[in-house]
Amino acid sequence: MSTPTSTPPSTPPSTPRLDVDATLDTASILVCTGSGGVGKTTTAAALALRAAERGRKTVVLTIDPARRLAQSMGLTELDNTPRAVQGVDTSAGGSLDAMMLDMKRTFDDIVVAHAEPGKAEAILTNPFYQALSSSFAGTQEYMAMEKLGQLKSEGTWDLIVVDTPPTRSALDFLDAPDRLTTFLDGRMVRILLAPAKAGGKAYLKVVTAGFSIFTNAITKIVGGETLRDVSQFVAALETMFGGFRERAQGTYDLLKAPGTAFVVVAAPERDALREAAYFVERLAEERMPLAGLVVNRVHRTAAGVLTADRALAAAERLEASGGSATTAGVLRVHAERAALAVREARLQQRFTGAHPAVPVVEVAAQAGDVHDLDGLRSVGADLAGGAEAALPKG
Ligand SMILES: Nc1ncnc2c1ncn2[C@@H]1O[C@H](COP(=O)(O)OP(=O)(O)O)[C@@H](O)[C@H]1O
Ligand SMILES: [Mg+2]
Repeated sequence: MSTPTSTPPSTPPSTPRLDVDATLDTASILVCTGSGGVGKTTTAAALALRAAERGRKTVVLTIDPARRLAQSMGLTELDNTPRAVQGVDTSAGGSLDAMMLDMKRTFDDIVVAHAEPGKAEAILTNPFYQALSSSFAGTQEYMAMEKLGQLKSEGTWDLIVVDTPPTRSALDFLDAPDRLTTFLDGRMVRILLAPAKAGGKAYLKVVTAGFSIFTNAITKIVGGETLRDVSQFVAALETMFGGFRERAQGTYDLLKAPGTAFVVVAAPERDALREAAYFVERLAEERMPLAGLVVNRVHRTAAGVLTADRALAAAERLEASGGSATTAGVLRVHAERAALAVREARLQQRFTGAHPAVPVVEVAAQAGDVHDLDGLRSVGADLAGGAEAALPKG
């Protein structure tokens, strides 16, 4: 048996490769999802920039861009309006607009647009509404979809790239329409209104016991004074429920429509890949169209170099014989890196073993944070072909 001299390929040769450019050229909605901190926002921005520079009129809806990335894209205000990104190569006829989602403002806009005349102000200034619109778990997911629906209906862009919120559960995004629909279907209304008629303490008790999602928001604000606000709020909001439910469903349908593609982003780490696997399965259950998996921040070692074991052994020999400490240090660093690459490859193989049909592409860990358009371009190049595309031809 020969000793391997390089990092094993992280995906078996049979694993289909995610053809990012084909997706960018044909999709009309691209949703980047995955667990927090894996590079969703970066991937969404990189995909959008690449699509724009390939000639498509593109808008990217970001949720929580890192400050420097936001600045480099001209995203200095949370104002819910897409603005042109400067410095994009538009020679192919495309363009790039970007916006950051302001969850509360999106909610407010819906109220203003859909509340009965005269009711909007009462809702907006209601303390219960204010707590709900900024703290309801799932509101952000729902608002991202609401905004997606709005952008789609404007008809301005060829491609809308959507980043998803940094929720711990990757499923929240998919759950949002259901949860909101349930909410709007009146369970909350019944819980809130029924005991209100009975009045007094029973009201508080039922609210707190029966409505767990809102427990936090409610306990935060429920006091003798605000109880009246709640029923007032619910009464006002009730007039908009139909519209809410319809659009939640409409956007959900949009996610299943031809032209929509999901990209699941993961880091080559156990937890992130496990969540990615779960998410891939959930998308399949919901019949949501999955383009593929992006494994981001992959550490590679060049082919044909020392394995971790050999580098470590060489470092130890060198140290034992009183050789160069610097060289031994370099060998140790190399050994660590090579071992990391092997670990990452194994984790990824576990994913592809369980999901052999899911197309995969890897993005290398960049030297530093991705905080400007050039950084996004380089991530984009990896997304579109990665190391293979970077290899000299011939
Ligand atoms: N391929 C990469 N190489 C180096 N740094 C990266 C890479 N992808 C993302 N990052 C950095 O990781 C951090 C988190 O990325 P972000 O896209 O905000 O994650 P998420 O949106 O999933 O929470 C950011 O500082 C970003 O610059
Ligand atoms: Mg993010």
